[in-house]
Amino acid sequence: MRGKKYVLSALAAILGAIPTFSAEAAAVADPARGWDKHFTLWLQVSAVIWVFVTVLLLYIIFKFKRKKPDQVGEYIEGNLMLEIMWTIIPAIIIIMLGAQSWALFNEFREVPAGAYEVNVEGFQYGYEIKYNEGIKTLNELVVPTGPVKVVLSSRDVIHNFSVPDYRVREDMVPGRTTYLWFNAVKQGEHKVWCAELCGPGHYLMTAKVIVKSKEDFAAWIAQHKTGAAAAPSADSGKTLVEGSGCIACHSLTGDTGAGPSLKGIFGRAVQFEDGTSATSDEAYIKQSITDPRVKVVKGFQPMMQPYTMTEAELGSVVEYLKTVK
Ligand code: CUA
Repeated sequence: MRGKKYVLSALAAILGAIPTFSAEAAAVADPARGWDKHFTLWLQVSAVIWVFVTVLLLYIIFKFKRKKPDQVGEYIEGNLMLEIMWTIIPAIIIIMLGAQSWALFNEFREVPAGAYEVNVEGFQYGYEIKYNEGIKTLNELVVPTGPVKVVLSSRDVIHNFSVPDYRVREDMVPGRTTYLWFNAVKQGEHKVWCAELCGPGHYLMTAKVIVKSKEDFAAWIAQHKTGAAAAPSADSGKTLVEGSGCIACHSLTGDTGAGPSLKGIFGRAVQFEDGTSATSDEAYIKQSITDPRVKVVKGFQPMMQPYTMTEAELGSVVEYLKTVK
């Protein structure tokens, strides 16, 4: 039978391609390039199948159109060879794509030895970045060129750390750590998005990956270490308030959001849910950041999560809020 021979040789050709696919994926050793190849391959395979099905469908529609009103369609019992082929060929395509996906997945999970490791904690609404060198930044992940492993965690709800330029994303789950890695090939900046709806300020939850050369990175670390204990200032307070997502709930304009407006907050009289009242001073503002559920302003829900900030950072926020009138 000629058909049988044809099926067998097609099978051999497709099976022979599997090792090529997975070996190629493994040699890439860079998730970004791997994902791009993966996407292109799936697109190509889907396009070929789509064109094949559509052309065949159009052909059949015109070829077998009823020609006379009393014409009856032919009764077809079945076609064993056709049925075997349309079972085996799709199965082989799926196995091939599956093997390629598996190879890429493993590459994405296996961090190369010697990768620069850094911790990122997500919170509503920002990212606190902790470096093993003992410094912290807010919403700016500074890394040296080369492979980077990012260890992810969350302070409150599920976020998703996503760097589209590097084609990577991973959930940040409260109570556990997850990770991803990317290959920071070139110096420059890349956008970070939170890719999981995490509250009213979700859209504010962006950050930057800043890739520096190894020398510049070492210099940046050294400089940041000495600058860490800087005195509180309204300028850094502004950065903190804007970068921590505070304005998702607390407007600077006097409008009421999920929380009270910050406009004119310093020195104003506040009434609490429990019937007591106080003047909004330095101690009150600091407590409302680190322990926001102790004194809940009348008319609002105790929905804010505690924020972890150093004394200097708290001082900066207070200095800044004094200027918001
Ligand atoms: Cu965090 Cu969306």
